[in-house]
Amino acid sequence: MEAAEKEEISVEDEVVDKTIFRDCSKIAFYRRQKQQLSKNTTYRALLDSATTGQDSTKFQIINETTKIPLLVEVYGIERNIFRFKINEETPLKPRYEVPDVLTNKPTTVRLISYSGDGGSLTLTDGKEDLKCYITANPFKIDLISEKEVVISINSLGQLYFEHLQTPQTQRITNKNEEKSSADTSQENPEDPGLWEEKFGNFVDVKANGPASIGLDFSLHGFEHVYGIPQHAESHQLQNTRDGDAYRLYNLDIYGYQIHDKMGIYGSVPYLLAHKLGRTIGIFWLNASETLVEINTEPAVEYTLTQMNPAAAKQMVRPRTNVHWMSESGIIDVFLLTGPTPSDIFKQYSYLTGTQAMPPLFSLGYHQCRWNYEDEQDVEAVDAGFDEHDIPYDVMWLDIEHTEGKRYFTWDKKKFPNPKRMQELLRSKKRKLVVISDPHIKVDPDYSVYAKAKEEGFFVRNKEGGDFEGVCWPGLSSYLDLTNPKVREWYSGLFAFPAYQGSTDILFIWNDMNEPSVFRGPELTMQKNAIHHGNWEHRELHNIYGFYQQMATAEGLIQRSKGKERPFVLSRSFFAGSQKYGAVWTGDNTAEWSYLKISIPMLLTLNITGISFCGADVGGFIGNPEAELLVRWYQAGAYQPFFRGHATMNTKRREPWLFGEENTRLIREAIRERYTLLPYFYSLFYYAHVASEPVMRPLWVEFPDELETFGVEDEYMLGSALLVHPVTEPKATTVDVFLPGSNEIWYDYKTFAHWEGGCTVKIPVALDTIPVFQRGGSVVPIRTTIGKSTGWMTNSPYGLRVALSTKVYGQLDSAVGEVYLDDGHSFQYLHQKQFLHRKFSFCSSVLSNSCADERGHYPSKCVVEQILVLGLKKKPSSVSTHSSDGKDQPVTFTYYAQTSTLSLEKLSLNIGADWEVHIT
Ligand code: NOJ
Repeated sequence: MEAAEKEEISVEDEVVDKTIFRDCSKIAFYRRQKQQLSKNTTYRALLDSATTGQDSTKFQIINETTKIPLLVEVYGIERNIFRFKINEETPLKPRYEVPDVLTNKPTTVRLISYSGDGGSLTLTDGKEDLKCYITANPFKIDLISEKEVVISINSLGQLYFEHLQTPQTQRITNKNEEKSSADTSQENPEDPGLWEEKFGNFVDVKANGPASIGLDFSLHGFEHVYGIPQHAESHQLQNTRDGDAYRLYNLDIYGYQIHDKMGIYGSVPYLLAHKLGRTIGIFWLNASETLVEINTEPAVEYTLTQMNPAAAKQMVRPRTNVHWMSESGIIDVFLLTGPTPSDIFKQYSYLTGTQAMPPLFSLGYHQCRWNYEDEQDVEAVDAGFDEHDIPYDVMWLDIEHTEGKRYFTWDKKKFPNPKRMQELLRSKKRKLVVISDPHIKVDPDYSVYAKAKEEGFFVRNKEGGDFEGVCWPGLSSYLDLTNPKVREWYSGLFAFPAYQGSTDILFIWNDMNEPSVFRGPELTMQKNAIHHGNWEHRELHNIYGFYQQMATAEGLIQRSKGKERPFVLSRSFFAGSQKYGAVWTGDNTAEWSYLKISIPMLLTLNITGISFCGADVGGFIGNPEAELLVRWYQAGAYQPFFRGHATMNTKRREPWLFGEENTRLIREAIRERYTLLPYFYSLFYYAHVASEPVMRPLWVEFPDELETFGVEDEYMLGSALLVHPVTEPKATTVDVFLPGSNEIWYDYKTFAHWEGGCTVKIPVALDTIPVFQRGGSVVPIRTTIGKSTGWMTNSPYGLRVALSTKVYGQLDSAVGEVYLDDGHSFQYLHQKQFLHRKFSFCSSVLSNSCADERGHYPSKCVVEQILVLGLKKKPSSVSTHSSDGKDQPVTFTYYAQTSTLSLEKLSLNIGADWEVHIT
């Protein structure tokens, strides 16, 4: 849709026109696979000729019907990962293997093989209890741990592989074949769409013909599966038996439908499964259109009436079958074997990288709108935050800031002096983010276009010319960001001299990078467009946006000569995008249901590596009522990326436009976020160095508690805070499930406490954000809020110590950490300029000690306030002990009713060793 077209549509009647997008029945490779699989074709492995080398074990498998062989390679990878590759032995031409996603070549471990007479082959790495047991006929692989099969591959015989064939035209001329009726693609459900496929007015002519692949995985004992974003769906994946498969195909779907399995902006082909005692992952490294079917068979208990009562009951374990299908490429799959959730996160990030450490400002609040009209508008909105005493860090400019949607330029009338505008923001210690999309206006006088054209940097059409499609600027060409040379050049466009009007407080937003092509099939690029290396777009569609964010992040790093951390928000993403910045959930709607679904959507992103994610606060499309807006701010304040955004035909909705009371509520929510920044920042550090998601589904923190596996209306922020946002209108209570039978939970505001393992009804007013601190944790906060993070560098800290009996197995104990550094540079990495401190409360002593000796950072900050929750007895005295032996008494207040001890006006250096004694 074009801008003008989009503007004309009134918000009320915006419902997704699903006929623009394909469901499974309209996808030819899906139909082909389904049809073929009904014929029960089997594969047989030739295990006699298996060879085990340094890196992998290789053997052939033969399709029993066609007798065509395939090559299987099995790799053992350190950290308990297995990789399986299945490809043609000698394809007509190479098939696409996804580059640039794996951070390094994974280190393989040499596998030891034991042959079972050609009928089977066992592979082990000799160290772990994991075994790979390969059965020859029919071909199947079982992954076995402690004599129990965890995963079976191809046990349902759904291995499917279309071999590349001589192109049709050649075949016709060579063999004088008749054009088969199947090849004249009509959009009809029977059409196998081998060499062409019709959808609406579009015909996809396939130069390489059919090339699809598929494989099944049976997950034994697993009923709970998660992952494969991005869908506007529940966190726990649903059975697809009665409907469409989950589709992974990056698309621009304005106002996407919720509880739907259609592909939206990004794809991470990675699925996790969890059961008591084990978490596993399947990473299907393929960037072409992919469909995933999920079929969970619950546990069944049979009663055998013929037998004695003791043996009468027999349990059949539950099982989930996962069937992956991709349009092209090879089968390249990683099995991550856990066994714990935290092992799984480490294994996945070992392959694809961890979350980039964000600059601190980007964890503050972001104010966006399509569009802030001009420099005066920016100035007024910025001033509005100060007038209303609401902190914020970043002002955003959407596409209208440019000269006719020519990215890297400024509209001369509306933004005549962008540097001056940035200096104003800088003086407030704030930043600017501007949009930069991958489509480039066809205009020979636009230097970016002219240069890219001259250098051949655009994606090409199948005739060999530059691909042209319509997007915001009108006719546009699309940068071929899969080409390293194009990326290098594109990165260079962010250099200060190249990007006129930019300064070092300007950061970038990559949008429409699925890529969005308004008049293209399903609003994206034709699959037969051609990329660098002569690869068709179909091979790599899902990774296009990943490359833009990669090149943009690199550009921002380079413009600072390698010194500063970038911030780049991208709408499209793929596995590994976490290395380059943040993502958001695209064009949501100002409705309660969209607020609600933001939680499972963000949880799914978090467990698939992408911690830095958020949803447009308020809902992008439509006008939220004040209550919804307030609730959305309250939810967003506890989500990793926190940005208010609205589309162009909506009413203005800066936080102070809804009356004094609502302004107060929004102010409170945003201020709450700012007090929690030390905790958020520390969580991002752990995500960065230890692969721990920032926002965690309850099952991740409570993997042994079945009741947590399906919870998705609340979540853990790190391991210490449980958040249950209010997502219903006019709510007066919410039911909060507090997990863990030996846990204690403290209401973050009232300090009331509960024992875990129950659901409590919490009364809520409009200013209530149900947040609970887990007993046994210490949460670092800031006690003074500034206008933005920049004003808070030297703000004092506070510690919220929530006691439990769990930690150290001792009465009344707690632990926690804080990480801090300069908040913007790479010095934490290269010069180890950081502080990582550990707080522990044990035997009535709270101590601050060093958690990482490598780090040094001269922080002037002090801990000025300590709140101890759950202290059952009023202390007789409290004193501080510094490492140089100085003791000082501390005045304190004890609140018997809530068992809370409050210490104020302290001056304990955050970076020094000290103790607080409570006696
Ligand atoms: C689509 C994005 O999803 C939205 O956030 C943005 O405002 C518009 N494009 C205009 O750039």
